[in-house]
Amino acid sequence: MYIMLTIILPTYNERDNLEELIRRIFRTLKGKGFEIIIVDDNSPDGTAEFAEELGKKYGKIIVVKRNKKLGISSAFLTGFLKSRGKYIILMDADLQHPPEKIPEIIDYLDKGYDLVIASRFLKKSRIYGLTFYRKLTSILISYFIRIFIPKIKVRDPLSGFFGVKREVIEHVHKRIKFKRGFKILIEILANSNNLKIKEIPFDFQKRKYGKSKVNNIVVIELIKQIIYYSEISRIIKFSLVGFIGTLVNLFFLLLLRSYGLEHFIASAIAIEISIMNNFLLNNYWTFSDRVNGKFLDKLIKYHILSSLSSIIQYVTSNIIFYFIYSNSIIAQIIGILLGYLINLLGSFKIVWKK
Ligand code: GDD
Ligand code: MN
Repeated sequence: MYIMLTIILPTYNERDNLEELIRRIFRTLKGKGFEIIIVDDNSPDGTAEFAEELGKKYGKIIVVKRNKKLGISSAFLTGFLKSRGKYIILMDADLQHPPEKIPEIIDYLDKGYDLVIASRFLKKSRIYGLTFYRKLTSILISYFIRIFIPKIKVRDPLSGFFGVKREVIEHVHKRIKFKRGFKILIEILANSNNLKIKEIPFDFQKRKYGKSKVNNIVVIELIKQIIYYSEISRIIKFSLVGFIGTLVNLFFLLLLRSYGLEHFIASAIAIEISIMNNFLLNNYWTFSDRVNGKFLDKLIKYHILSSLSSIIQYVTSNIIFYFIYSNSIIAQIIGILLGYLINLLGSFKIVWKK
């Protein structure tokens, strides 16, 4: 049987914060149907045992003990698998996320939103609990994520305080890839489509007791998530293919010349071989996950695109050389870069479009 709400609290050494948090949750949600799932990773300070005592006193608390510290994202999933709520809320157990915000989150879920994020970066939000350095990096990383993972549009994709409909997690939980870090919200956003999302401001508080558990694993997982879900890895592959194509081009040029072919023929054949080389590598490697369009269609489009980018390269190089700065190498390099850019955009948006 389902109940209205499950609150998942991941804990690692939060013994001193727990009672106040539980007390405030119960006060805020008086009369509502909810459960609290505390997922503790064998905290040395005895958080789990203390949580069980609180459970006896307050009721509605389930304590899940895991024997290793596995991060917030996996704690959320563990909690979800035990949960019965129609709505699921994740929040920190260190009082940095004020439980008094929960009713507002529920209101928006009731109104039909799928995901409600308590955001640190809206106009009305205040941040008391971050050092200048962490605030700056969080803002920069959020900005970076919005640029490189176009699907993610929210202001605070790093937030650890949000409410979500059960169906959303049921839909994504098997696709979630990076479980060891803290940023489960990125997984949810990147793996679902057409969510109705609301961001609400809140005041990110100072930690009362204990300290933050952000460590290298958390940072590395975040970098992996951004690379995986963004197009960065694809751009790197695409560029590598272009580089290999240039080598192939030069290799065949020299080979054919060594057989005594005229330059104008050898050059044309070498160019065609390099275009084929790039096409095949991009088709079966860079864009192997985008199964769309007929092989021949893509092949023709890619030829047109390559001709276009060569012309642009040629024209740019000449305009620069004759009208701006008469240095052959520099003019040619700028031409190559512009040609590369056109080729890149055309490949991503036309030949192998999503
Ligand atoms: N079970 C479990 N396992 N819990 C953990 C672990 C873990 O490995 N690591 C941390 N926690 C618990 C903490 O005990 C706390 O209740 C909560 O997760 C947040 O951890 P903090 O270490 O306090 O993280 P933070 O304050 O630096 O960052 C948090 O807030 C940010 C802003 O909303 C995280 O939630 C971030 O993801 C979030 O961006
Ligand atoms: Mn915290």
